[in-house]
Amino acid sequence: MEFIDLKQQYERLKPGIHERINQVLEQGKFIMGPEVVELEKNLAAFVGAQHCVSCANGTDALLLSLMAHNVGPGDAIFTTPFTFIATAEVVCLLGATPVFVDIDPKTYNIDPEKLELTVAEIEQGIVHARGGKQGLKPKGIIPVDLFGLPADYDAINQIARQHGLLVLEDAAQSLGGSYKGKRVGNLADIAATSFFPAKPLGGYGDGGAIFTNDEVVANSLRSLREHGKGSHKYDNVRIGINGRLDTLQAAILLAKLEVFESEIKMRQDVAGRYSSALKEIVQIPFVPDGLASAWAQYSVVTDHREAYLHTLKEKDIPTAIYYPRPLHLQTAFAQLGYQKGDFPVAERLSERIFSLPMHPYLTAQDQEKIVAAFENTQVGI
Ligand SMILES: Cc1ncc(COP(=O)(O)O)c(C=O)c1O
Repeated sequence: MEFIDLKQQYERLKPGIHERINQVLEQGKFIMGPEVVELEKNLAAFVGAQHCVSCANGTDALLLSLMAHNVGPGDAIFTTPFTFIATAEVVCLLGATPVFVDIDPKTYNIDPEKLELTVAEIEQGIVHARGGKQGLKPKGIIPVDLFGLPADYDAINQIARQHGLLVLEDAAQSLGGSYKGKRVGNLADIAATSFFPAKPLGGYGDGGAIFTNDEVVANSLRSLREHGKGSHKYDNVRIGINGRLDTLQAAILLAKLEVFESEIKMRQDVAGRYSSALKEIVQIPFVPDGLASAWAQYSVVTDHREAYLHTLKEKDIPTAIYYPRPLHLQTAFAQLGYQKGDFPVAERLSERIFSLPMHPYLTAQDQEKIVAAFENTQVGI
């Protein structure tokens, strides 16, 4: 059993993927070929956003989005400490400061009430024991749709409007999810996603995309991903990066996008089967009314993590821990001055959470084996 089984998907899509790859090889347009344009058009239509700008990976998608909004030194960017490092790393790369906000204990996404308090503190120049944040100007929020579940965008967008902040949706894990009838990627000012192979829509290498309804922003993103180009390659009007999506990855993603909708449905079925079987044993994922997760991960929470991980390992069932250490306790962010105890919800979750195999092709039979391993675990009281 695989944690994420890409081989079964490949078997299903083989002819289409090969045909797409062969077309690129025949045509030889490996950089910014027609497949890149076609993918952007199809993705924008899928998400319901006016513009899609593809790029080299999800980290660049976040970075370019912040660059397009001139984020820099002195700016505070509010985000969750319970995420992959890329979310906050890009903030530091631009000389801005990540300001962490604890998460909601049910959804594991940024807690809007705590967000509002923290924004007000920064606005008023209140400096806490946690973090060195004097003199920062609130600039934006990066909510992360953790494990595929959209964050609380109604509340977050309202806070952003009140304080004049940018909202950048980190949709690296959530493409295919939805929030009150709107697709992920179209829930905030701008959204960044990833096509890392293990993501719900994954390529065969790195890839990413940005969604926006703002044409000016879309144009500056197109320039920024190609070294800040102006009217042509050797007209450079701003400092940018080499952040393009390869034509080959675009071709592969085009083939995969054709079945993406059906795969999301299959993921919902897998998650549904897990939830009904495990709900009395561990804390299962909570999905608020009106929201749909893309189920990048299926994660459970328990006081008996070690015991369950032990049995699952004995049965050759792969698992993973996302995330064993929240970002505010990572060495890379030591200069921000956070300490253990600053974000108790995230810290406690990191000690109790783990993820089970999750992909569209996981069979009910394999899931029964996983559930049996839970049932056969002896846990202390
Ligand atoms: C929440 C989150 N943000 C950003 C990224 C960065 O994406 P990539 O690995 O494509 O750079 C990832 C994935 O790896 C992620 O999970």
